[in-house]
Amino acid sequence: MGTHLFSEGSIRGVALKNRIVRSATWEGMCDSEGSPTGRLIDLYRALCRGGVGLIVTGYTYVRADGKELPGTMGIHSDDRLPALKTLTRAVHEEGGRIFCQLFHGGGRASSRETGARPLAPSEIKDATSRESPRAMSEQDILDLVTAFAHGAGRARRAGFDGVQLHGAHGYLINQFLSPLTNARKDAYGGSLNHRMRFLREVCDAVRREVGPSYPVSIKLTAADNIPGGFTLEEAVTVARNLEAWGIDAIEVSSGTVDAGEEGPARRNIDSPEREAYNAPCARRIKSEVTVPIIVVGGFRSPKVGEKTLEKESADFIALSRPFIREPDLVRKWEADRTHRALCISCNGCFLPGIKEGGIRCVQVGKD
Ligand SMILES: Cc1cc2nc3c(=O)[nH]c(=O)nc-3n(C[C@H](O)[C@H](O)[C@H](O)COP(=O)(O)O)c2cc1C
Repeated sequence: MGTHLFSEGSIRGVALKNRIVRSATWEGMCDSEGSPTGRLIDLYRALCRGGVGLIVTGYTYVRADGKELPGTMGIHSDDRLPALKTLTRAVHEEGGRIFCQLFHGGGRASSRETGARPLAPSEIKDATSRESPRAMSEQDILDLVTAFAHGAGRARRAGFDGVQLHGAHGYLINQFLSPLTNARKDAYGGSLNHRMRFLREVCDAVRREVGPSYPVSIKLTAADNIPGGFTLEEAVTVARNLEAWGIDAIEVSSGTVDAGEEGPARRNIDSPEREAYNAPCARRIKSEVTVPIIVVGGFRSPKVGEKTLEKESADFIALSRPFIREPDLVRKWEADRTHRALCISCNGCFLPGIKEGGIRCVQVGKD
């Protein structure tokens, strides 16, 4: 029998007890300085006890001007290290593994949160946030590359088992990759080679900072799912390059908030046919590289998860929303392969994250 959901796995030497990953999920459970609260620590303990093989933190800003939402984790300063160490220690005490997702919002950062005009590859108004960013100078780019490297170095010192660069969902790395948000005329814009230069510089700087054996992964957009945007064929080329630059795993996602029904967190995943909506893209990318592939998007039943591994579309599956309702979902799946996640993919979990200091499933108690 080949790989199945409960086979052990590893990413750059980090042993994982199964093939099920908690995908990065902004929880809104950090204080105004970006430090985890007790509520976040309790949640991660529950996820570990519930059996997840690897937790990826919610997106964590590498510089304060990259923040988008309240309650986001920050890794922008050495002052955060004691609080972050408390978080990683809790996960390790429970026998879990944790990667820190490093991010900068770019043109999607919120001036309300940061008090500053956002920076972006080009001065293109963000369709959803309505922010009007300032185009980055070459010095801004160098500074941000350094911020990612320093964020990765801090993650290592804070005890995270690895990092994941956020290269999806319309944030800064994705903004450089996409022709919709990158209209630069210099060496960072135009051809795909130029559009992926920022990512290459980030990968190189991060690797220099953390050394050869520390896991550096990425959540990569397989496509913007918007006409004129970044395409799957381009993602395949980027993935091949990422492998050459020493990336240790690629989590495949797709879409941005502007992609409507084809955004990152699609609604109404109410049948097996609607599950695993990024699996075809993951399969294509996996056929071109040898690094482990993680796929996220709409997994709700063990059967579809198993099939995804069997068809060699991915080496790991990742879930976000189902764990908000059922942090112990992996244990449930282990005990009962017919258990379907209770999440109805309504996306109501976001609002309490903003209004109540933490995401929660708004369906609990309704049925
Ligand atoms: C409340 C919420 C917060 C999210 N925060 C992040 C994040 O911080 N970083 C990220 O890469 N994706 C984030 N996502 C997207 C998820 O990781 C995932 O890609 C998407 O929800 C699809 O997977 P699912 O169907 O298992 O939920 C978030 C999704 C939700 C619902």
